Amino acid sequence: MNLSVRDAEVAELMDDPDCDPKRLEATLRRFDTVNRLWSGWGSVYRSRLRPYLASLRRPARVLDLGSGGGDLLVRLAHMAARDGLDVEWLGADPDQRAVAVAEERTTPRVSFRCTDAAALHSAGARFDVVLSNHVMHHLSGPQLREFAGDTLALSDGIVLHSDIRRSRLAYALYAIGITPLAPGTFLRTDGLRSIRRSYLVDELAGALGDPWQVESASPFRVLAVGRAGG
Ligand SMILES: C[S@@+](CC[C@H](N)C(=O)[O-])C[C@H]1O[C@@H](n2cnc3c(N)ncnc32)[C@H](O)[C@@H]1O
Repeated sequence: MNLSVRDAEVAELMDDPDCDPKRLEATLRRFDTVNRLWSGWGSVYRSRLRPYLASLRRPARVLDLGSGGGDLLVRLAHMAARDGLDVEWLGADPDQRAVAVAEERTTPRVSFRCTDAAALHSAGARFDVVLSNHVMHHLSGPQLREFAGDTLALSDGIVLHSDIRRSRLAYALYAIGITPLAPGTFLRTDGLRSIRRSYLVDELAGALGDPWQVESASPFRVLAVGRAGG
């Protein structure tokens, strides 16, 4: 597998509107384990999200865009509640199939809606933090710039977009590590395709342009950081 060049053409099975609904549902549910093991949000929470939310010294609103099965938002909400932070959490995803799975995880402070950034933006929604996980690599170049611009426009504070950083080691380790979780899901095929579609730091910085700061995060991750007002 040649991973020296990003493969923007390979398509993920879950992005097919006609994909097997049972496998899609199982995939969305099992993102929970995948995200706990590989997404690195524990460290982003401690280094970025918690300090920012604490600095506000008031109730805050956080949006997770492309919230999928909703597990990440619920996990962040638990961590913030444990730290005594007063936060209302909204997960938004344009795919109703994902929202249906996420809604099972609804709590009094965490809700989910089938919508996208552009619709939230035109409805005048505002958040202190906008974040996403594993969304950027799904998008074409123009979609990525629109998504990034909309998320900046929706935030009064910070924007954090986390994704996979492409590497041969990530590909090899994922191919082995996903084996026990993969049956009945798209996790093997789509995970490996995701790595082929994902960015290196410089590539993502070039694709996003100003005012984004793109950095390497915990192993195999990129983090794009934006701030309202540039
Ligand atoms: C790989 S899943 C990641 C889900 C979840 N964030 C996670 O980390 O488990 C990608 C998600 O992005 C959503 N998505 C695709 N295009 C999007 C867009 N333009 N805006 C927001 N979400 C989008 C998909 O519907 C899908 O649920």
